[in-house]
Amino acid sequence: MQGFIEKPATIVPTPNLQDYDETHKTFRWQDAYEKVEWFEDGRLNAACSAVDRHARSWRKDKIALYWQGDDKASKYTFHELSNLSNKFANLLTSSGIEKGDRAFIFLPRIPELYVSFLGILKTGAIAGTMFSAFGTEGLYDRLHDSGARYLITNSELKSRVYEIKDDLPDLEQIIIVDETDVRGGEISYPVEMEKASGTFDVAKMLPDDPAFMLYTSGTTGKPKGVVHRHLAIVGQHATTEWVLDLHEDDIYWCTADPGWVTGISYGLLGPWSCGASVVVHGGRFGPEAWYSMIDQYKVMVWYSAPTAFRMLMRASDAHKKYDLGSLRHICSVGEPLNAEIVHWGIRTFGLPIHDNFWQTETGGILIANYLSMPIKPGWMGKPIPGITAAIIDEDGDTVPHGTEGDLAITPAFPSMMLEIWKNPVKYAEYFRAGWYLTGDKAVQHEDGYFLFIGRADDVINTSGERVGPFEVESALIEHPAIVEAGVIGKPDQLRGEIIKAFVVLAPGYAPTDDLKDDIRKFVKTRLAGHAYPREFEVVETLPKTRSGKIVRRMLRAKELGLPIGDVSTLMGDE
Ligand code: PRX
Repeated sequence: MQGFIEKPATIVPTPNLQDYDETHKTFRWQDAYEKVEWFEDGRLNAACSAVDRHARSWRKDKIALYWQGDDKASKYTFHELSNLSNKFANLLTSSGIEKGDRAFIFLPRIPELYVSFLGILKTGAIAGTMFSAFGTEGLYDRLHDSGARYLITNSELKSRVYEIKDDLPDLEQIIIVDETDVRGGEISYPVEMEKASGTFDVAKMLPDDPAFMLYTSGTTGKPKGVVHRHLAIVGQHATTEWVLDLHEDDIYWCTADPGWVTGISYGLLGPWSCGASVVVHGGRFGPEAWYSMIDQYKVMVWYSAPTAFRMLMRASDAHKKYDLGSLRHICSVGEPLNAEIVHWGIRTFGLPIHDNFWQTETGGILIANYLSMPIKPGWMGKPIPGITAAIIDEDGDTVPHGTEGDLAITPAFPSMMLEIWKNPVKYAEYFRAGWYLTGDKAVQHEDGYFLFIGRADDVINTSGERVGPFEVESALIEHPAIVEAGVIGKPDQLRGEIIKAFVVLAPGYAPTDDLKDDIRKFVKTRLAGHAYPREFEVVETLPKTRSGKIVRRMLRAKELGLPIGDVSTLMGDE
């Protein structure tokens, strides 16, 4: 078969999804609902499907979470996690939380993050997560738009929230996870958890009731709140089995932070629903730290991202000091996975890396290279059972194999977003002729595999993080030295793309290195650590439409030395 590689003999047999073609043809989500015994009178709660179910079974004393911090570690059985999240749900209820309230978590990857997330779901409130590197503007955008009533944070991060608290009228309760002596208006997690009961009458939710939300970037405007339902866990469970090939005896490590969708769908809900033990690394990335996690915890299934693999690849021999023989399956998501990394996986771990594709909005994996099937390096794979993926044109018609077009999906599957928070117009923009549009350009080969080409819009993907140019531009122009800014993604060997900003300076400012440093810091503290421009170029003017919109494609074309294209249409361009 053209373009495929033989998998090494090191792969253990009996992977899930043995007969892809047959399953893809016959599988119906309805069958999955009937198979899982998670519904009671048509209701469920994703936290119970993930954790409480096991706490009531023989898996009660099995380790659900191995947590490794920089200098300490702890572990929790399914029973303990269930008990702690019940306590947290009681804490929330006694402080007045109601079904549908938004409770946001702003914490590093510590056990309290996982306990809070489950506890919020158990009350019927909506859990929101925010990456701990967010600055004041990133926080404000999320807390304000969602109207969050509750915030769970720690003594270190809370000062960022207090900087904007006066502008957040809905934010009533702030829970601090590491302080016993809290100030007025705050709730102490340690004090209240100590008192709270470990039994809780978990809210029984309708499948379409919202469970969690995450903000994600598009081309225009501020980040949008993508809301996911309790039913999503049925999809996350199925895809965790099919794609990550998790079996209940597996020790599994997803490197993503729960501030992003991967860290929720496959960092906790999916793997726990399969009864697997989850490993969490609380510290920062580093080849030694990462390899020692695999060695120490005997990780079997590992889910990470291309930029991390590329960084490990650069650290050449670092893996040799560790015993990585426990690994049996490796998956990647978030950015294009170059064929080179797949081959590096084989050389380094005796295992190829399996690419898969999905998005915040889809709540779960859509397209994948499966363990049970031949791998096609450089290609994203085939659609999961229960969905149809296609390449469509502007009218919504499918195009012939080999032709580039818009990657689209049939939208009826359980982990598909429920809505865009308070923004039905934006939600409607995702659909064309009954298809859900991913916003990505791709090609399908006649063998059924999909190849990623690039974004159809200006969204930037840097180290697997999705960044909207508008957010960065808005943060930049708040700096006193900047009058106008245009931001693009510039191809980068390590990070996929880096953020490059073209800025027009205010009179009296010179483009010195000090000024550039100052601007970088400014954006970092406002937006988030990953969203600052690594490159700046000072320009006299920015290309614009007649209505004053910055034409980023011209900036990109200039940067890459590509033809600028037809500019005559620009003048009337909206
Ligand atoms: O452009 C695609 C890229 O990441 C986008 C989704 O980003 P986000 O919502 O942050 O979710 C990331 C993790 C699920 C997609 O629209 N992307 C994701 N996976 C791949 C990818 N690009 C190429 N290959 C992939 N496997």
